[in-house]
Amino acid sequence: MGTIKHPIVIAIDGTSASGKSTNSKLVAAELGYIYVDTGAMYRTLAWYCLQQRIDVNDAKAVAAACRKWKTKLVCVENKVRLLVDNYFPEKEIRTPETAAAVAHVAAVPKVRDWMKKTQRDCIQFGNLVMEGRDIGTNVFPETDFKFYLDAKLDERSRRRAADGVQENLAARDQRDSQRASAPLMIALGARVINNSEMTAAETSGLLLADIRARLPKP
Ligand code: DC
Repeated sequence: MGTIKHPIVIAIDGTSASGKSTNSKLVAAELGYIYVDTGAMYRTLAWYCLQQRIDVNDAKAVAAACRKWKTKLVCVENKVRLLVDNYFPEKEIRTPETAAAVAHVAAVPKVRDWMKKTQRDCIQFGNLVMEGRDIGTNVFPETDFKFYLDAKLDERSRRRAADGVQENLAARDQRDSQRASAPLMIALGARVINNSEMTAAETSGLLLADIRARLPKP
C-alpha cells in the first residue's frame, strides 16, 4: 500500500505592495507549482457585487451574493482562475472602483468562510504557492512553509506608483490588519522577510533557498 501524498502549500502573506505577487510567481515557476492569487478572488467578488449593483457596505447583501454566485475553479498554465458564470474577469478586477470596494467585501465573515473553503479546494490541482493576507494564519495553518513579506511604506508606495497605481497603502493596511475576521498578521512560525532594500531576484532567492532546504527529499 502506498502512502498518501499530500500536496505542498507555500503560504505567502504580507502587506500591500510588499512583492507578494512578483515573488510568488517566481517561486511557483521555479518549483513547478501552481500559483494562486487569493486577492484576485476577493477582487472578483467585489467586481461581481459592483456589476450586480449590490451595495458593498451591506454585509448581508454581500454574503447573499457570495452564497448564490455561480463560480468554478480552473487551472490554466499553472495558475488558478476563479470563473464567474464561466467568465474570467482579469482587467476588470484591477480598476480603482474594484480596489475601493474590495476591503469591504473582504471584511464580511461569511465571505471569508466561502473563500477559505474555495482556496483550500485549490489543492485538487497539486502543489501550490498561494499568496494573500491570511493563508498561513487561517487558510492553510497546517503548512510548514509560511512566509510574511513586508517593506517600508515609502518603498511600497513607490512600487505601486511605478505600476501606475496611486493608492493610500497605509489606509488599506490598516483596514486589512484591523478587521475582526482573519486580519492580516504574522503567522506563528512564519519567516518574515523585509525586502525594502532587495530586488525580486534576491527575495525569491531567499524564499527558494529556505523552501528547498526543508522540502521532503524525493
Ligand atoms: O492582494 P490584493 O491587493 O489583490 O488584495 C485585495 C484585497 O483583498 C486586500 O485589500 C485584502 C483582501 N485580501 C484578504 O483579505 N485576504 C486574502 N487572503 C487576500 C486578499
